[in-house]
Amino acid sequence: MTVWYALRSLSLLMRSSTPWRVYPVILRTRLTVLRDRARLAPRREAFRAMVRERDFSTDWFTRRLDGWLTVFERHPLPASAEVLEIGSWEGMSSLFILATWPDARLTCVDNWQGGGICAGIAAGAGSEARFDVNMADYADRIDKFTGTSAAYFAARDPGERFDFIYVDGSHRYADVLIDAFEGFDALKPGGIMIFDDYLLPSNGGPSDCPAPALNRLLSDRRGRYELLAVSWQLVIRKLPAGVPR
Ligand SMILES: C[S@@+](CC[C@H](N)C(=O)[O-])C[C@H]1O[C@@H](n2cnc3c(N)ncnc32)[C@H](O)[C@@H]1O
Repeated sequence: MTVWYALRSLSLLMRSSTPWRVYPVILRTRLTVLRDRARLAPRREAFRAMVRERDFSTDWFTRRLDGWLTVFERHPLPASAEVLEIGSWEGMSSLFILATWPDARLTCVDNWQGGGICAGIAAGAGSEARFDVNMADYADRIDKFTGTSAAYFAARDPGERFDFIYVDGSHRYADVLIDAFEGFDALKPGGIMIFDDYLLPSNGGPSDCPAPALNRLLSDRRGRYELLAVSWQLVIRKLPAGVPR
């Protein structure tokens, strides 16, 4: 972690109404990942080999692997987990999910139009076609929703609940708010939610990035989740009903 990166992240958090309890978790997460890094290397390399066998133009995922491996080692998902992913792009995180949990089902939500962090990469440019090819071996365990996450949440069966939700779609404040609150409602008690790009600085207005929206979730749902890890990604676990913290 460079000094510049640390200072920029600290400044973003301090300007974004970050609850104080987040700060010690950043330190704890960093120490845990550093401690486990060497031990997790074979699993990291095994997944990288799967990636090399497929056609990805960009990699927004493998640098997050250590964090994921550490979290799921301590909080394993049920074998036949129901998983929701908002923002699938060419399928790299989808591949990790379906290869890691061989009986899991995955709902992939994406407008495949790019935008946000992918804006510099011609909108959509072949990303959906690459997703289909990369995920062909797993197609029978994927439910694909082509559209925005807001459209997905408006259309979904309200009784459906997920064991794990990965949010890596739009990074605009208003969109992240929808993904965070609707996603939290759709999470089973005990379920895990990972948000990418918690520390991404704003591109537009001062609050047009994920941190202020995610901090609103952390404040408004206080007592209903446990903070598992905080780094570039924010990881929470929804507490079973009646176990406030
Ligand atoms: C960073 S990429 C996802 C990367 C992927 N999770 C991975 O690790 O390989 C972000 C994706 O979110 C999608 N996206 C952007 N805004 C969206 C929205 N409002 N609803 C659904 N998907 C959106 C983009 O089309 C893009 O495919």
